[in-house]
Amino acid sequence: MTKTMIGVIGGSGLYEIDGLQGAEWRAVETPWGAASDAILTGTLDGVPMAFLPRHGRGHVHSPSSVPYRANIDALKRLGVTDVISVSACGSFREDLAPGDFLVIDQYIDRTFAREKSFFGPGCVAHVSVAHPTCPRLSDACETAAQDAGITVHRGGTYLAMEGPQFSTLAESNLYRTVWGCDVIGMTGMPEAKLAREAELCYASVAMITDYDSWHPDHGAVDITAIIATLTGNADKGRDMVRRLPALLGPDRAPCPHGCDRALDFALITAPEK
Ligand code: ADE
Repeated sequence: MTKTMIGVIGGSGLYEIDGLQGAEWRAVETPWGAASDAILTGTLDGVPMAFLPRHGRGHVHSPSSVPYRANIDALKRLGVTDVISVSACGSFREDLAPGDFLVIDQYIDRTFAREKSFFGPGCVAHVSVAHPTCPRLSDACETAAQDAGITVHRGGTYLAMEGPQFSTLAESNLYRTVWGCDVIGMTGMPEAKLAREAELCYASVAMITDYDSWHPDHGAVDITAIIATLTGNADKGRDMVRRLPALLGPDRAPCPHGCDRALDFALITAPEK
């Protein structure tokens, strides 16, 4: 048994969490630079927590400039075992309405201007991301959201785009009808891949803010409408998060899905003699 420490990466609209005992903002430096912001640490229901606003308080990092490697490494250095990623997303499904949550289980990574690995020249590793999210942690997110009275859907594919512009109508239709994606966002990757390389359990919750640009009854997506929905979503997000420690508990068995052992068979560089 090891001890649980929950890390929450909050997306647009989610810049803090409530009710932490011994709350303290801690600046964490890493070999990959500084994280997006200081990290709020404390305890909730007897479980240590760490909260990191992905875009920084004041929303200063664009999706392309978020220091994804520093963020994941900073959480790992603090002792985080389980990462819950919360992010604002557009919906490709009629039944996934603004205000709903979706627990993601797959990704299509269309980002191209970001550092995507902790490994590189000198030490090469190829981890599997066939199943990029942790089912055990995803179960907890689904239950926490249900308990908070949120309309939550389980399972879906997240199209990670580079941004910062939203999609064209043709792109939106391609992702929805040909590629079968469920939601779209700008920050889910490489975060999920890096969490796997760091051997962290990772679950991702999309807070739906809009129908992107495909829906005939909704105009083109704009940030004013997104912010209006985000305000309500952020309250729900905080409500979901504060229920997680009681569900996960302070003690932690090895991950039944092997997230915490992802590097066991991933390193290809020969050890130094
Ligand atoms: N974040 C929220 N809504 C989005 C959309 N429609 N496209 C990309 N990122 C988003």
